[in-house]
Amino acid sequence: MISENSEVLLSVRDLTADVDGTPILKGVNLEVRYGEIHAIMGPNGSGKSTLSKVLAGHPAYQVTGGEVIFQGQNLLDLTPEERARSGVFLAFQYPLEIPGVSNLDFLRVAYNSRRKAQGLEEVDAFDFDDLIEEKLDVVKMNPSFLSRSLNEGFSGGEKKRNEILQMALLEPKLAILDETDSGLDIDALRIVANGVNQLAKPENATIMITHYQRLLDYIIPDYVHVMAYGKILMCGGKDLALELESRGYDWILQESAVGVGV
Ligand SMILES: Nc1ncnc2c1ncn2[C@@H]1O[C@H](COP(=O)(O)OP(=O)(O)OP(=O)(O)O)[C@@H](O)[C@H]1O
Ligand SMILES: [Mg+2]
Repeated sequence: MISENSEVLLSVRDLTADVDGTPILKGVNLEVRYGEIHAIMGPNGSGKSTLSKVLAGHPAYQVTGGEVIFQGQNLLDLTPEERARSGVFLAFQYPLEIPGVSNLDFLRVAYNSRRKAQGLEEVDAFDFDDLIEEKLDVVKMNPSFLSRSLNEGFSGGEKKRNEILQMALLEPKLAILDETDSGLDIDALRIVANGVNQLAKPENATIMITHYQRLLDYIIPDYVHVMAYGKILMCGGKDLALELESRGYDWILQESAVGVGV
């Protein structure tokens, strides 16, 4: 879906961020245009989840430099809620359990909050029930999950599927999916991937963080980035993921060791 002429949706420039004074992101550059699917791969601990959380505005991370422009505005100036309302969606690597908050209520509040930000009227509980039924179909999810507490007692794969249900409902401009494939059985992987593909449109974009080429058989990325040492060290097309599968990461780390001063 690459279009040379399409506009930039997200531009990350020289982004650096700390956790408790320890630098984790060390100059990340990334440009995402409307209609594109990007995959970010890389060794454990390289900063992939940190990047996703910094973009979503997680308070544990302090941005120390660089800029993030999203839809023409400075994303770093916005609170996490404002970022979500403006269309940034993060599916967590480890989705949170919120006992006492029903999944259905959570989804309705999140949906209405996004509608409000778009200047649209809130939908009532009855209309929402119809809408959510339609969205359940995208991820082939059993309606019984709606009345349970958010993610409480959900299996790993059920949590991941629930994240995609949220995404289907909120129709974000930028979806960041952090290891959404981890813990999914073979059929669930296909269902979730189909859901992501159905939701990818020319007017939005997706960033998928993954360790496995397998996911990219189902969701074909326009670009594959390799992150290590808090930076994106290499970018390529979908074939780069195949190369990583057969060669691992050492060759990239060695090639760039001088460049990143490690
Ligand atoms: N809140 C935190 N407190 C302390 N260290 C942190 C925190 N968040 C991230 N880090 C550290 O930052 C580094 C990058 O972590 P991050 O979770 O971004 O890696 P990742 O690339 O997502 O790895 P994985 O592939 O294992 O998910 C790790 O060394 C991690 O321990
Ligand atoms: Mg991670």
